[in-house]
Amino acid sequence: MNAPLTTIILAAGKGTRMKSDLPKVLHPLAGKPMISHVLDSAGQLGPERICVVYGHGGEALPQSINRGDLVWVLQEPQLGTGHAVQQAVPHLDMTGVCLILYGDVPLIRSETLQEMVLIAREGAIALLTVKLADPAGYGRIVRGAGGRVERIVEHKDASAEELAIQEVNTGILCMPAAKLAGWLAQLGNDNAQGEYYLTDVIGMAAEEGERILPCHPASEWEVMGVNSRAQLAELERRHQRNTADALMTAGVTLIDPARLDVRGSLDCGRDVLIDANCVFEGRVVLGDKTVVGANCVLKDVEVGTGVTIKPFCHIDGARIGAGAIIGPYARIRPGTELAEEAHVGNFVELKNAQVGFNSKINHLSYVGDATVGRKVNIGAGTITCNYDGANKHRTVIEDEAFIGSDTQLVAPVTVGKGATLGAGTTLTKDAPAGELTLSRAKQLTIPGWKRPVKKSK
Ligand code: UD1
Ligand code: CA
Repeated sequence: MNAPLTTIILAAGKGTRMKSDLPKVLHPLAGKPMISHVLDSAGQLGPERICVVYGHGGEALPQSINRGDLVWVLQEPQLGTGHAVQQAVPHLDMTGVCLILYGDVPLIRSETLQEMVLIAREGAIALLTVKLADPAGYGRIVRGAGGRVERIVEHKDASAEELAIQEVNTGILCMPAAKLAGWLAQLGNDNAQGEYYLTDVIGMAAEEGERILPCHPASEWEVMGVNSRAQLAELERRHQRNTADALMTAGVTLIDPARLDVRGSLDCGRDVLIDANCVFEGRVVLGDKTVVGANCVLKDVEVGTGVTIKPFCHIDGARIGAGAIIGPYARIRPGTELAEEAHVGNFVELKNAQVGFNSKINHLSYVGDATVGRKVNIGAGTITCNYDGANKHRTVIEDEAFIGSDTQLVAPVTVGKGATLGAGTTLTKDAPAGELTLSRAKQLTIPGWKRPVKKSK
């Protein structure tokens, strides 16, 4: 049986450079808090327990993450990374191993961590390090005879010689829990920052002859931390690029992989094409051969096969049937379901509307709280008046009805099968099936009427 794993995520720090009221680790990356990315990677390792050390920003962090399976450990005041881990010691399973992560290093991959957990389960210490062209600010890895790791020296405590070392401490490490707890108890704060450094544990371990095995991430971005909004934006782009690469590998055409934003999950069928500047939020599914035009925003949408979504559409909480054509400039709001081959054109807003097979709403309309049958044609400028100021009412338009342009349907109201409404009708009573219904003032011509003319000066 594997030794139990306790994961500790450090997230008590201040994040001064974000200049924000929001705790740093709650700043979103790809639409969810940075720390949620870390929790996802941590969760994939199947830990017995995840402890999050929080402090700065108070209860905002546990409240907004709101997960019953986490152990929240308050660090108050914040006296350094070693002190932070000490606060979680009572929650360690001393028979197992402990992995330490940072809440502000969001793109760490679980594959990298898995390797470290294996090392710790064999009794050694896994230390994640990386060689940087510019190591400024980081703790440096000091190696001795035979390349053995001897200790970590913080930038502010380093000699000129040590500052030249390019291998740095990422902060992520994994080791047997009991040993960690023992060394933590011996930490002092006699250093340049007057803090309890977690990194001093490495020096103690080396002195006791422990095996310290440096591990390395597959890519630098895995271990990049976020201290500023600029760094957050950089990692956001990196993450989006990774998502874009994965989509292309899976067979999706992206006109410009640098101009794609997925803030949730995006599942695509075969031969999907996505044009530039599209944003996908929540859970989006695109069927085979679907085309999404430029500048669309799709949130929680299920799109069938062979759908064409033209540029500048905003679609939220909807199901789109196969072969439908939408946009440009359509707004589709929650509760809407378009059946196969429905057409929704420019400047059309749909809300909680069920639109049947091959029905067309092509121009400048509002259709809300409505049931629209098959092969219905809704003319330009049609409005369902669904709201009386207090209650919402439904409009029903049955199969093959034809709604003339500039019509208002004052709900609750039903248009019968095959009925025709004349242009300009304000429908307040049901329109019978198969008949022409219209409400229209009689057309009138006043013979000899003269338009007023301006007096000449
Ligand atoms: C730390 C490491 C350094 C490493 C660098 C990588 C130490 C002493 N130094 O330095 O070797 O190169 O990370 O980024 O460990 N935190 C707390 N409580 C505290 C202090 C920090 O929870 O009292 C958390 C922070 O929220 C953050 C993480 O620990 O997530 C690292 O803290 P930070 O102040 O950024 O550490 P550095 O001084 O940069
Ligand atoms: Ca840092």
